[in-house]
Amino acid sequence: LKDLSAKLLAAATGPAPANFRGGTLGLVPTMGALHPGHAELAKAAVAQNDVVVASVFVNPLQFGDPVDLERYPRTTEADLAVLEAAGVDIMFAPSDEEMYPGGEPAVRITAGKLGELYEGASRPGHFDGALTVVAKLLHAGRPDTGLEPADAAGRQPYRAYFGQKDAQQLALVRRMVADLNFPVDIVAVPTVRDGDGLALSSRNRFLSAGERDAALVLSRALRLLRRRADAHEPLDIPSAEELVHMTPGVELDYLEVVDPATLAVRAENCQDTPFTGQALALIAARVGPVRLIDNVTLG
Ligand code: PAJ
Repeated sequence: LKDLSAKLLAAATGPAPANFRGGTLGLVPTMGALHPGHAELAKAAVAQNDVVVASVFVNPLQFGDPVDLERYPRTTEADLAVLEAAGVDIMFAPSDEEMYPGGEPAVRITAGKLGELYEGASRPGHFDGALTVVAKLLHAGRPDTGLEPADAAGRQPYRAYFGQKDAQQLALVRRMVADLNFPVDIVAVPTVRDGDGLALSSRNRFLSAGERDAALVLSRALRLLRRRADAHEPLDIPSAEELVHMTPGVELDYLEVVDPATLAVRAENCQDTPFTGQALALIAARVGPVRLIDNVTLG
């Protein structure tokens, strides 16, 4: 991070090209096991900033289940290659001791009510742990020199990149940044999918060929809702749920149509009347050994 400060300082004080915008920094937090979804975040950050840092840290605070933490894939060398190919300047891969000297932090971020819904309902404490490490990474990644203040439009020279794939995490990070005045802009990157529609996830590697086939029903159910929304038809959520229930080996946890910002369940215009406006359809299901999540925007 010292190198980073030096680079930004050089960018800000060296001979300025005609179109010089001042130094901007992009931060891409990850837990490694990088796939093309993560690479897309890195590429967006590289395209939009002078310097990009990607962090790779499997955060124990956000895992409830020690077995899940233990088996989380760790592929540091391959991660380095992915980040390098995307044009990332610095990979920040701290040890547990570096991140949490003296053990787990006593003071943490709490995600509040929104952290208890959907993913939070089946993973108690998960979002508190995720927000706590994101807060730490946002502070650790921010160099103390060489950055311009926010511009006239209020845009920050410091930006952090998150995937739409984890819609609830994205919404909570946005709330944390707004509620606690973090001087950073949050940039959302659309979900990257395989050709057959399956959203890329580090956990897909635990699926057998048959389970992977079955998992396609998540994106199929979401596409069904999107087609109806596009056609301004009633969404008929139960019929999309039925599609999932009919697939052997897939156990639906939830399928909800929610407000894109607050993630509150959208009761109006969803069931019997034609769909209007904007919403997010969230789905989570257990397929074989893993829990998968996906979402699409409607309208
Ligand atoms: P991780 O699961 O490694 O994801 C890192 C980032 O990549 C997240 O912002 C996630 O939404 C994004 N991402 C994952 N799959 C994607 C896909 N298919 N398309 C687009 N983006 C995708 O999310 C975490 O790590 C952690 O909770 C973290 C924020 C790093 C805090 O520990």
